[in-house]
Amino acid sequence: MAATYSKVTVLGAGTMGAGIAQVCAQAGSTVVLQDVTQEFADRGMERIRAFLQKGADKGKVTAEDQAATLGRLTTETDRAQACEGAGLVIEAVPENLGLKNGIFRELADVVGGDCVLASNTSSLALSKVFDGVSGPGRCIGMHFFNPVPVMALLELVRTDATSAATIEQVQGYAQELGKEPILVKDSPGFASSRLGVCLGLEAIRMVEADVASPEDIDKAMVLGYRHPMGPLKLTDLVGLDVRLAIADYLRAELDHPGFEAPALMRQMVADGKLGKKSGQGFYTW
Ligand code: CAA
Repeated sequence: MAATYSKVTVLGAGTMGAGIAQVCAQAGSTVVLQDVTQEFADRGMERIRAFLQKGADKGKVTAEDQAATLGRLTTETDRAQACEGAGLVIEAVPENLGLKNGIFRELADVVGGDCVLASNTSSLALSKVFDGVSGPGRCIGMHFFNPVPVMALLELVRTDATSAATIEQVQGYAQELGKEPILVKDSPGFASSRLGVCLGLEAIRMVEADVASPEDIDKAMVLGYRHPMGPLKLTDLVGLDVRLAIADYLRAELDHPGFEAPALMRQMVADGKLGKKSGQGFYTW
């Protein structure tokens, strides 16, 4: 069966953008992965190639699927050109409100009137991300989880303006991606980040207070609560800088002391200890 969207454009070829592009291509869509430089876009493609190869080695992806997926993927640096003829544009650029809003304002008039505009923001208010964008009924949050090809959840975030037709169409596509969609109102941190970040921040405060080693705090959640990964290792996986930005945003939006970023976290980010991507976080990678 043909995919709901024959062409999907993913803006931003970082960890999330590459993962999103991969699953859309695996679902049968033709995908353009766009980033501002060819080097960034190529790095995203490299991530996809490596993940597919790992999947093939594990027997999760057939050689045929691997080749077909790669065959449906191309890269582009020009944003407007990348979005030409797309039925769905998914933005996965850094978590900067001004940047995201500027991109959508610029693109709204480039793409067709029925092209769905989606943001992968993990906490920013969608009403602000899409502020002033023409056709607000087609705008929606599509929040994926890292590692995208493996994680089953897709958090769909509706603004007051998102149309029922857009929600229904994207819910259908989520199924094609092999994801389980949940529908959440546009509110700070949605359903996932609000809880997940809170847990991660408290774990860091526990390291600061020398309650236990990072390994043992993580073990408490893995073995005691059956989390697949402890909150500190997960913070390393997501990136301390990414989580710090979310914490600061939620602290301001929710006015809740639980979202106050620990001094240790700020220091680690300032020292470039960003987690897995930098080789050092609470763990050495
Ligand atoms: N291709 C296809 N499948 C793959 C794969 C690949 N390259 N690599 C792994 N898999 C599959 C495995 O085969 C396995 O599937 P089965 O369970 O069916 O056998 C599954 O994925 C898990 O893989 P592994 O067994 O190799 O690895 P693991 O058991 O150590 O799990 C993990 C790794 C999935 C990352 C797990 O530790 C986990 O779920 N951690 C928590 C991740 C999480 O919470 N992510 C959310 C972060 S927050 C976020 O992303 C949002 C945000 O806004 C920042």
